[in-house]
Amino acid sequence: MSLHSSRRYIESFNYIYTPSSPSYPNLRQSFQQNPRWLNSTSSRPEFIVTPYSEAEIRAAVICCKKYDLQIRVKSGGHDYEGLSFLCQVPFIIIDLTNLRSISVDLEDETAWVDSGATVGELYYTIAKNSDVLGFPAGICPSVGIGGHFSGGGIGTMLRKHGLAADNIIDAYFIDVDGRILDREAMGEDLFWAIRGGGGASFGIVVAWKIKLVRVPPVVTVFTLHKNLDQECIQLVNIWQNVSSKLPRELFIRLVFQNSNRDDNGDQGMVEVLFNSLFLGPVKELIPLMEKSFPELGLDSKDCSEMSWIESTLYLQGFKSGDPLEVLLDRTVQDKSYFKAKSDFVEEPIPEYVWEALRGRISEERIGILILDPLGGRMDEIPESELPFPHRKGNLYNIQYLVKWTVDGADESERHVNWIRSLYDYMEPYVARSPRSAYLNYRDLDIGINKPGDVDYSQAAVWGSRYFKGNFEMLAEVKSRIDPGNFFTSEQSIPPLNHPG
Ligand code: FDA
Repeated sequence: MSLHSSRRYIESFNYIYTPSSPSYPNLRQSFQQNPRWLNSTSSRPEFIVTPYSEAEIRAAVICCKKYDLQIRVKSGGHDYEGLSFLCQVPFIIIDLTNLRSISVDLEDETAWVDSGATVGELYYTIAKNSDVLGFPAGICPSVGIGGHFSGGGIGTMLRKHGLAADNIIDAYFIDVDGRILDREAMGEDLFWAIRGGGGASFGIVVAWKIKLVRVPPVVTVFTLHKNLDQECIQLVNIWQNVSSKLPRELFIRLVFQNSNRDDNGDQGMVEVLFNSLFLGPVKELIPLMEKSFPELGLDSKDCSEMSWIESTLYLQGFKSGDPLEVLLDRTVQDKSYFKAKSDFVEEPIPEYVWEALRGRISEERIGILILDPLGGRMDEIPESELPFPHRKGNLYNIQYLVKWTVDGADESERHVNWIRSLYDYMEPYVARSPRSAYLNYRDLDIGINKPGDVDYSQAAVWGSRYFKGNFEMLAEVKSRIDPGNFFTSEQSIPPLNHPG
């Protein structure tokens, strides 16, 4: 049977959509959390498959191999470059939205979570089961588990507990032959690779077993807004020196943004938010801050005590009193066009750079820098423990972000040029050997695989930036699990010595 003659047969399955299915356009739109590519021809799959079981994923993989179709796997659809729903050659999307069950084992303090669940659904389910357990994953609740866990997972508890990927203890995975493998069956090397090396290079991760972490009954949050003036630059400078050395219960991140977001063309003031989670009560936080970072002048009236689950809402910017159910919304808040890039910082950045950044950030209505401190637990985990290598020696991560709301190629180019120029400017001040990047803040500017000409040494240019010395091990694992490079994309790990 040819692909076309089998279309009608395929349409009889209630989890497969072709371009002629009434739901196809809505499905295509709904899963693009960044709508930059909505009209692109590379976002039109031959089929969208929304499986309800592992067997249906398995069938899709086998079928695609037979008909020479590529596969894009989508969990939450947040990929910064749209790699879960864009492809230049005929392809299908396996959309895991229907595979989103979460089961918590209170005795073991573990949970199984399907890849199609979101971070918000995970936090919500844990909190409904226990008020002393939590999980150290990202801030945005709509982010999908599949992409987030397989790319690392930075969140506000990483100084205490590491990345989300550091807390994964088992997984169910479907390989290129449609075999369903757990940790024991896949072996430790593949299990290592899918925890931070990007799952889509190797196959499809269906579910993850995670070790939950203990959270205190009361945590404290605060957000101090400061104008980026000379006094604030002094604070940023101190923050650079102390934030990765503070007790690991304390996470203070900085958000630089234009404080005038009105669309009136005025250049705005730039503000810095000192945005924090402390795993403990305010009466412990204040003396700690007086000792370690007195210059910030934190007062107990700046702080709010709450439960850990309430803090996940606060840190995402929900209003006090919003119900926990907001965590279940699968669409990103303030959906807009965006482009992002990332760096890691090993040495404090000189003061004059922050002054220069003030000018640059004020040029963009929504130009944002987010600085996440590392240290603590992150310093204890060896670079090669998982594919994510940015451990001891790194002070913090920078995420550069630009967002815009008007569609159009010119508009897009203008904002993308802004962020590229900012990134070029930062080069002398950030980790340089190599200049590193975080896979989950995917950036195709740092290099891509040439279509039809996948080459290890070319891929090592971008691969070493995400994975440093772990890139070669990832390519070795790829050679064993998918030697024919069936699971491929612009930034998939190539097999070592693959002919083409
Ligand atoms: P999506 O479905 O687009 O998948 C991303 C990549 O993973 C694609 O290559 C896809 O093919 C692959 N993939 C997805 N599911 C898979 C599976 N089951 N098996 C194999 N491969 C699979 N990050 C962070 O660390 N901390 C944070 O706080 C945030 N916050 C945040 C906010 C917002 C608004 C966005 C848009 C993004 C973030 N991120 C983040 C980045 C986020 O972690 C990253 O984009 C993840 O890859 C998104 O995972 P999704 O499943 O949502 O994306």
